[in-house]
Parts: sequence; C-alpha cells; structure tokens
Amino acid sequence: MSVAHGIKRLGVLGAGQMGLGIAFVSAVHARVPVLINDHSPDQIKRGFALFDKLLAKDVAKGKMTQTEAKEARDRVQAVESIAKMRDVDMCVEAVSEHFPLKSSLFSSLSTHLRPDAILASNTSSISITKIAAAAVGEGVDAKSSVASKSAERAVGIHFFNPVPVMKLVELISGLQTSPNVLDRARAFAIACGKEVTTSKDVPGFVSNALLMPFINEAIMCLEKGIASRDDIDKTLKLGMNHPMGPLTLADFIGLDTCLAIQRTLYEGTSDSKYRPSILLERMVDAGWHGKKSGRGFYEYP
Ligand code: CAA
Repeated sequence: MSVAHGIKRLGVLGAGQMGLGIAFVSAVHARVPVLINDHSPDQIKRGFALFDKLLAKDVAKGKMTQTEAKEARDRVQAVESIAKMRDVDMCVEAVSEHFPLKSSLFSSLSTHLRPDAILASNTSSISITKIAAAAVGEGVDAKSSVASKSAERAVGIHFFNPVPVMKLVELISGLQTSPNVLDRARAFAIACGKEVTTSKDVPGFVSNALLMPFINEAIMCLEKGIASRDDIDKTLKLGMNHPMGPLTLADFIGLDTCLAIQRTLYEGTSDSKYRPSILLERMVDAGWHGKKSGRGFYEYP
C-alpha cells in the first residue's frame, strides 16, 4: 500500500546547485510551497536567478505555460533563519558535505520544527545514523522518548546533479529511521518526478561507493601520466557512452565535494582502495574546485 507524503510545505537549507534544484522540482512537480534558507544573501540571489532561468527555458520549450511558471516561482520564498520554518512538514538539508555543519543544522532543526516534521539530508556520503543522532539536540536525555522521536524522523534523500534532469533519488534510512518516515520520503521523491532506490547506511551509499573510486581512478591515470586529460574523458565518453568523461564530471560535481566524499569513504572503511589521489588533494588546496570556481581539470570562463 502506498503512503501519502503529506508534505504541504517544504523547507530547504542551502541554495547551492543541489538545494536550488530540490526547491525547483518540489515547486514545479510536487507543487508544494518551499521556504529556502542560505546564510549567504548572494547565494540566494544566484539561486533565484537560476530558478528563473530554468523556468524561462521550460516555458520556451513548451514544457509549461507562463502562468504555471509564475505559480511555481510564487511557491518559493527565501527565509532568513531556520526559526521561520516552524510550519514545514519536511526540511531537506542540502549544505556542503561537512559533518559538523550538518550536525549543528540537524540539532537546530529538531529544536525549531514541529515534532512530526521529517528531517531529511541530501548528504551524498555521510552516515544518516550519525546525522540522526545529532537531531536529538543538545540537552535532551538520549534515553527519553523525545530523543528517540527526533532520531526516528531523520532520513537520507539523495538527489543527483542537475536535479531537474537526473531521474534518481537514493533513499537511506539510518538505524533509527521509522519505516513511515522512509515511506513518506519515497512518496515525496516520486511526487517530484523521480524514481527511487534505497541503500543501506554505508559510507557513500550505493551511488558514491561506485562513482567516487571510478572518478579517483581517472584522476590517478592523469597523475601517473597514463593518458592526457582529454583522452581519459574521450575514452569514457566515446568508448563507454558516458554523457561526460570522469574528469569533466568531477569538475561538474565540484572537486571539493568529490574530495569530501572520498575522505568519508576512506575514513569510514579504512580501505586503501578509497584513498583520494594526491592530485585531487592539491587541486582542492589550490582552490580549484571545478566548474563553480572557474577552474578544475578544465577552465570555465
Ligand atoms: N540544470 C538544469 N537543467 C540542465 C542543466 C542544469 N545544470 N544542464 C543541462 N540541463 C538540461 C538541458 O536544459 C536539457 O534539457 P531539455 O532536455 O529539456 O532540453 C538537458 O538537460 C540536456 O542538456 P544539453 O543538451 O545541454 O546537454 P547534455 O545532453 O550534455 O546533458 C547533462 C547535460 C544532463 C548534465 C549530461 O551531460 C549528463 O547527464 N551528465 C552526467 C551528470 C551526472 O552524472 N550527474 C550525477 C553526478 S553525481 C551526483 O550528483 C551525486 C553525488 O552525490 C556526487
């Protein structure tokens, strides 16, 4: 029996490429009002500019009418703090892949949101069980029913970039996640127009436990001088029909994000096959974070 998602209002934390994309599919496909928060007013401005561009493109292509685009745009509103998200039924955290940041946001969400609201994370590698534990919040007795209810409502809802285009959402339940919360998250992802898979709560889940070693091997090929950047990408694009070569894809995801995920895999498994390449480490040290910073394996004017 399918469960209704019951999300009448959504919160999104982070207006970067993932948060913005999640707001977009929620407003356009699931048609729910969205409150979005980001600590950077510039990021909110950039996010809304991209949102308008995506809507204009869909109108030009005849995928929606001007009226539908305006309705979708009106559903999304920026708010200056989590405290303003009190009435949301679910909040999706989509900030950078940094556990202390996610942990403090989950603690704050559990304090400010209604006790029945779902606390979702778009994390691409960090343990949902660990993030759920942070939802218990400081000062709450870990053995109390308040603590168990807070952790039960945390779930992983992992979208892919670019969110409006990629068809998949990977769901992850932590040890504490209630089955009903997982079912509602699944129903919501489907309402956003996505297909859903589920993964156990292991470092990187299914998607990044497979993708990141592949990207890392491509970087190591470059580092060892086995082939040029262009030939590595060309091999996978033309030889295996991948839409992007692995170095282009790494730039597109963000080299800082790739490194953060690879470190989570390496530290979480102690398996040397996940050790990030030194070249990737150095490029992130240099501030070459890929497309978003103007330079990665390629340059972006
Ligand atoms: N945002 C929204 N829409 C976008 C977009 C973006 N950033 N980039 C492209 N599109 C849309 C285009 O508008 C176009 O839409 P229509 O079909 O409506 O015309 C469609 O995507 C195809 O675009 P293009 O023809 O311009 O270019 P393309 O055919 O090369 O496709 C691509 C672009 C979809 C990004 C394709 O190159 C691709 O699939 N690349 C691989 C992406 C991928 O692997 N993503 C997963 C990354 S891993 C991740 O996100 C998770 C993680 O945890 C790290």
